[in-house]
Parts: sequence; structure tokens; C-alpha cells
Amino acid sequence: MMNLSDEEKRMLNGVRGDAARKAMELLIAVGECFGAERMLPIASAHLVAATPTTAGKGGVSFIMDMKDRGGSFKIPVTTNPNCLEPWQWSDMGFEESLYRENERLTRALVEMGAYSTQTCTPYLIGHAPHYRQSLAWGESSAVVYSNSVLGSRTNREGGPTALAGAITGLTPEYGLHLDEYRKPTVKFVLDTDLKSDYEYALAGYYVGKIAGDRVPLIVGLNKGVANDSLKCFGAAAAVSGSVALFHVSDVTPEAMAGNITANTRFSDSDSFRIGKAELKAMEHICSHTTVNNADLVILGCPHASIEQIRVYAKHFIGKKIKSNVTFWVLSSHVVKRYAEDLGYARVLAEAGVRLVSNTCPASMPQNFFASKGYSCVATNSTKLAYYASTRQGVAAYCGSLESILTHSVKA
Ligand code: F3S
Repeated sequence: MMNLSDEEKRMLNGVRGDAARKAMELLIAVGECFGAERMLPIASAHLVAATPTTAGKGGVSFIMDMKDRGGSFKIPVTTNPNCLEPWQWSDMGFEESLYRENERLTRALVEMGAYSTQTCTPYLIGHAPHYRQSLAWGESSAVVYSNSVLGSRTNREGGPTALAGAITGLTPEYGLHLDEYRKPTVKFVLDTDLKSDYEYALAGYYVGKIAGDRVPLIVGLNKGVANDSLKCFGAAAAVSGSVALFHVSDVTPEAMAGNITANTRFSDSDSFRIGKAELKAMEHICSHTTVNNADLVILGCPHASIEQIRVYAKHFIGKKIKSNVTFWVLSSHVVKRYAEDLGYARVLAEAGVRLVSNTCPASMPQNFFASKGYSCVATNSTKLAYYASTRQGVAAYCGSLESILTHSVKA
């Protein structure tokens, strides 16, 4: 049995309303299943199932039911990408019925108190938790980033538990909320330089494949590694395995504070190297065709930062995309607005690149790409390549930004 505070007991008895009572029942059931002794107050929740395609019929009913029971959010709550682009949906070929269904759900969440961020990178737009702060976040790429790069603490929450956390401001204390589960248990020594987001994504994919749900320690990364590169690395490790936390010696906050160094010892069976051969092997797994077949190019998985958009825009000054290629850059509407203010969006638009906000292929309807006549996606993201082939029904080319640009831009 979990030890509950007086306030938590009152919530369980319905003093804070029926939705909070139901949410408490759910969190207690989960906590008892994982042997949690108590609840933890959380600073924020990130809802992964916040659009009809990812929530499913059952998830939408659950959210609506909680709202009808008077549910409201006690803490800051952000939401993951939508099933469609809220401003360009018609132009991009999404169904009006889906738009209406999505609007209904979005409105309900906003009325409950959500910041409808509709992005997998809420930490880029003012929702970055601080070191050791407890959270209830869903979305594997956001979870691994917040645990690893920011040093905050969250398990990989599903739709119902994140919603229950949002309503109660609580999460059961188990798993990655506890020090003992945050220690590295498998080590990867890098013996090649990672020079681009693409190579970080390949390395992350390899780490995830080997590590599974363990906590990897990475040794040998450049101390000046950009946050965007760690974002790409983590997203890949979270999709090929289920890595929710990694440490990088001399880089990530817990490795620094906890004295986890390159010399921390592991058995031979828990020690791996990442060299050119391992990256090449991941390239073969993620890429199924040549770039020449790509009729849709997508960058920005995870959603692009303003720095990434700046770099993309620089490549496109004075250039034009080929008429047989559709080119999207995914981001949040906040970063898109920033890119408009700084002139990067104009450069991209003039080249024929569409800045697509608030959505992504993992949330779009299944086989949407195939239904729109696309046959092959090119991307520099191993995670996006995975979803293109498994969810969107098209072949995937996963390769360097340079190879993608060479293919896409008119000579
Ligand atoms: Fe984000 Fe979608 Fe990629 S949720 S990490 S843009 S597959």
C-alpha cells in the first residue's frame, strides 16, 4: 500500500472533484504495480496522446470523460504534435473531418488548462524543466532529452498516466524518479568523430539497439556537443531501443554531478565501441533505397530548433527545390514564428521549402504519405525513417543533409 498525504487522501475521497478522484485511483494502481511507496509532486506534464490518431477512440473518450467530470490541470501541461498541420491542413490534403475532430480535442485540452504546444520539443519554447525536477512526460524523444540533457526526472508516461499527473500534480515515485535506477549499466566508447545531426542519429540508433531499456554511459563525445545533436542522438536511442536516460561523461549534468567518468568500470559484456562500422551498419538498417528515389524530403525530427532552421535556410539562399520533390521542415509554431521574424522562413519559402508546424509523421494518419502518392521519403533522422516505413507506407532513405540537398535542389 502506498503512503498518502492527507491532501492525497482527500483527492482520493473526491474532495477535489470526480476527475481528481479517478486520476488518483489510476496513479495509485500504477504506483502499487511498480512498488512505489509514495507520490511525488511534479512540475509539469507532457501529453503524448493529445490528438485523435495517437489517443485513439478510447483515449479521446478518456480525456472527454475527465473533462466532463470537472477535470482541470493543476500544473503546466504541454502537448505533443498533432495529426495534421492546423493552418495548412487543407492545402496539404488532410481530411476536414479529421481537422474538426482534432479541433474538438484541442479545445477540450485547452479548456482543462493545457498549453497546446503541439510539439515534441516543448523544452525549446519555454517549457524546459530544471535539474532534478520531477515530471510526468510522454513522448520518448522529449523524455530522454529531459532526463539526460536537462537532468530532470520522468518515466516514459503513457496517455492516461500523464493526464492523471496533469490533473493531480502527482506521479508515483518509481523507476527513473529514484537514484538507483538512474545509474549507467552499459558503456559505449566512441572512437569516431560524429560530425552532423545525422551521424548522432546513427550513433543513437546503435546505442538503443544494444542498450534496450538500460541506461547507457557514452564516453568520448566532444565536450562542446550541441544540444541539437544530443536531441537527435536521444530520439534515435529511444526509438531503436527504449532508452529513457543516457549519460555522457564530461557533458550531461548527472554524469558531472555524480562523478560518472570515462573510467567508470563495466564488465566486458556491458562494454561496446561505436566506430565507423557500427554507423555504417545502422545506415543499412535505416535506409532502404537511394536518395534518387525520394519524392518527399523531411527534416526536423525531432522538431527543429531555430538554429537548425537557420542552417537549413543558409543552404537555400538563391536555390530552388526541383519540381518533382516536396520538401518539408518540421517544427513548432513558436519556432516557426521566430523563423518568420528572422527572415529564415522567407528564404525557405522562396526556395520552395514548406515550414510545417505542429505535426509529424508519427502522429499523422497511418499511410497518409502513401495515400497522397508519395513513394519515398528522404530524411537525416533515423527516427523519421523508422516511422516513414512502419507507419506511412513508403520507402525511406536516411542519409546526410548534403546528400539530401544535392538530390533536392535544382542544378
Ligand atoms: Fe518528434 Fe515526430 Fe520525430 S514526435 S521526434 S517529429 S517522429
